[in-house]
Amino acid sequence: MNLIGSTLLHVQHHPLAIISAFVCVLLLFGVINRRRQAIHVSAMLSAFTIDLGLVVYLELRRGVVESIPHRQITPLLVFHILISVIVLILYGTQTYTGLRRIRGDRGWSHRLVPWVLLPLRMLNFVTSIMVTQG
Ligand code: HEM
Repeated sequence: MNLIGSTLLHVQHHPLAIISAFVCVLLLFGVINRRRQAIHVSAMLSAFTIDLGLVVYLELRRGVVESIPHRQITPLLVFHILISVIVLILYGTQTYTGLRRIRGDRGWSHRLVPWVLLPLRMLNFVTSIMVTQG
């Protein structure tokens, strides 16, 4: 089965994967509505909050951080952890620059960072499935 086929099969059976896929759709929806401030800000803050919720859930219920020393450290796992951390940092910077935009500051980074954040968030989704399927 190809990557798209196995990803769809995985998503159907794993609630966390469904939520993660929903966050990706929400981010795309938010970017498409980037000129409608209320919709944009609500979508982005919701996506950020859900993702933070996923991190808290994975840590509290599965102890993912503590489990790292006991796992087989593959390049894929390292890549997945790295992009997950970068995504969380970029969420933070987008929220900061977004709040500054509301106050009238039109810097360049809020427009450019999504070109990195969105592909990385999609990659996070795909690699999360690959890591779980191991
Ligand atoms: C993942 C998070 C986010 C992404 C990927 C994102 C992406 C974008 C993009 C691409 C634009 C259009 C920029 C332009 O063409 O000049 C934009 C505009 C904007 N964003 Fe965000 N954003 C995010 C989060 C936020 C947050 C959390 C806030 C506020 C708390 C925010 C507030 C704004 C505002 C005020 C604008 C200008 C909208 C307008 O033209 O009225 N963004 N955002």
